[in-house]
Amino acid sequence: MTHTGTNAVFWPYPCWIAHRGAGKLAPENTMAAFRLGAEHGFAMFECDVKLSADGEPFLLHDAELDRTTNGQGVAGVLKWDALSRLDAGSWHGRTYAGEPLLRLESLARWLQALGLMVNLEIKPTPGEEVRTGRVVAQHVARLWAQSQIKPLLSSFSVEALRAAQEAQPDLPRALLLDKWSRDAVDTALVLGCQALVVNQTQLDEERIAAGHAGGLKVLTYTVNDASRASTLWLSGLDGLITDRVDLFEPQARLGANPARLMVEAEEFAC
Ligand code: G3P
Ligand code: MG
Repeated sequence: MTHTGTNAVFWPYPCWIAHRGAGKLAPENTMAAFRLGAEHGFAMFECDVKLSADGEPFLLHDAELDRTTNGQGVAGVLKWDALSRLDAGSWHGRTYAGEPLLRLESLARWLQALGLMVNLEIKPTPGEEVRTGRVVAQHVARLWAQSQIKPLLSSFSVEALRAAQEAQPDLPRALLLDKWSRDAVDTALVLGCQALVVNQTQLDEERIAAGHAGGLKVLTYTVNDASRASTLWLSGLDGLITDRVDLFEPQARLGANPARLMVEAEEFAC
């Protein structure tokens, strides 16, 4: 399908997004990570959301607890009461010992108190795609009811995005792509998405242009290298998810479009 790119997208989000709160500098997806990311000047965060057995949305990347908590096995089979007692900080280091898993509700309160934004990656426990998409969207609509700027929901799972779309069609959505495919833009449009979020190894100027031609914003993950970031900004990128909240702190604080700043700096040098 050929796209004309005439759709105007409401896009209030900043260019720089901190991956899992603060990348690898603090235990991912915990409150400590978000605090650290904010201290480095980031106004938007990516994080991974799944459901407990009793339907509570909480933050965890893996399906299992083993890598990032003192628990074991599949997280989604436990109720929130059991999950809330786990230590999600000690694996990272003594500084964060006892840091708990984070409920979406607690994160929502903190973000809104500080006027910060979020990209919620719906990361279902395998087999729970539809339920997770639906329940996360319902919680987001309730938790951010008073906010003008809603979380950007994203997922690799088409089923989860479709369920989120059916439950809360007005929430902004993005299709995540680990591998670029020729039907990526069409799939995103069918799901009513506003954006594609693409693995940075898969992205170039032509693919960014293809997204734009479909009226989509194009974001990328996970860029931790300054020269790769510059190349992508100059190729028309709209948003970049990074672990390196330390490296990109000055740019995140500026908040302006990095490509425009780079062009202006070149003109100034001439
Ligand atoms: O949402 C972007 C990125 O987080 C997707 O990959 O595995 O880091 O969740 P992953
Ligand atoms: Mg993620």
